Amino acid sequence: MDFSAFVCSFFICCFCCSKAMPTTLNQDAVNDRPVIGILTQIVSDEVMKPFGGTYIPSSYVKYIESGGCRVMPIRLTLTTAEYESIFQKINGLIFIGGTGDLEKSDFARVAKIFYRLALTANDAGDFFPIWGTCMGLQLLTVLVAGENLLENTSAENIALPLNLTTEAYTSRMFGDFPDDLMKALKHEPLTGNFHRYGVTVKTFQENEKLQSFFSVLSTNVAENGAHFVSTIEGKRYPFYAVQWHPEVNRFQWDKKLNFPHSRHAVQLSSLLADFFANEGRSSLHQFDNPEEEAASLIYNYTPVYAANFTAYEQIYFF
Ligand SMILES: *[C@@H]1O[C@H](CO)[C@@H](O)[C@H](O)[C@H]1NC(C)=O
Ligand SMILES: *[C@@H]1O[C@H](CO)[C@@H](O)[C@H](O)[C@H]1NC(C)=O
Ligand SMILES: *[C@@H]1O[C@H](CO)[C@@H](O)[C@H](O)[C@H]1NC(C)=O
Repeated sequence: MDFSAFVCSFFICCFCCSKAMPTTLNQDAVNDRPVIGILTQIVSDEVMKPFGGTYIPSSYVKYIESGGCRVMPIRLTLTTAEYESIFQKINGLIFIGGTGDLEKSDFARVAKIFYRLALTANDAGDFFPIWGTCMGLQLLTVLVAGENLLENTSAENIALPLNLTTEAYTSRMFGDFPDDLMKALKHEPLTGNFHRYGVTVKTFQENEKLQSFFSVLSTNVAENGAHFVSTIEGKRYPFYAVQWHPEVNRFQWDKKLNFPHSRHAVQLSSLLADFFANEGRSSLHQFDNPEEEAASLIYNYTPVYAANFTAYEQIYFF
């Protein structure tokens, strides 16, 4: 065997791999077993009430699992000390879509605890990413602005292309996307919208706190003509949010709803899940022991078949 050839190809391989590593913020650490927390949502829909008080649609779980993460569901009934403890164990957090009060609900209370912990951790060089989808984006704007700036930006059940800003092309979220996907994102309806409220571009630009915290990566036009921000990325913090729903592209199938399932729509969903999973790999938080970790994961719960009474195929109830 030609040993020198072996050594050479080994090094070439390593070189390729290290070149392919994403470069974002202060991410030196590598944790290949990330656990992402998902805050449960309060059940408000009558048909869901018999199953539990809070829930997580399986589509969000599958979405982040597809990036190589495991999920820890986070209930809304714990103490602040318990949330502080959980924060030290998980490697990122997702605020999912749904409906609810963004200032006074238990969901808002718990979200604010984690948001503040994440700010402090990141400021101290302890990398901790947060992702918000739909109401999760709205929630992040309330947390950052310190007030509810939502207006009617109704876009219910419509798939739209994104009006990408110039920042999108150098962003962490989209920066590594292939050119043909960026073109498709601009011209094909790859993003499913299911919302009544949002933050208008004007309100965003006039709000000093939002403006200095987030870069706007895309905007869209609502049914009433309002221009709203549809994708945002933290300038200094690894916080990301979309007013649309990347998880539906691969994991929701209700024919009454305009879920994009094209090749590009699926690719978009995959790449964003990969992106956020990679962010999670830069967090070194960990559970105290394997038993505690195993008991915390969503694998301990069984989703309920829900396609015959909701727009979700499966839902975890708590
Ligand atoms: C796209 O965004 C630009 C500003 O970035 C705005 O001037 C333009 O009106 C928007 N177009 C559409 C179709 O939303
Ligand atoms: C929002 O605007 C749409 C379109 O103009 C309208 O149909 C809807 O009733 C408005 N919703 C609210 C909550 O004001
Ligand atoms: C939905 O389907 C399940 C069986 O898969 C059934 O047990 C349940 O009663 C159905 N629910 C409704 C609201 O039809």
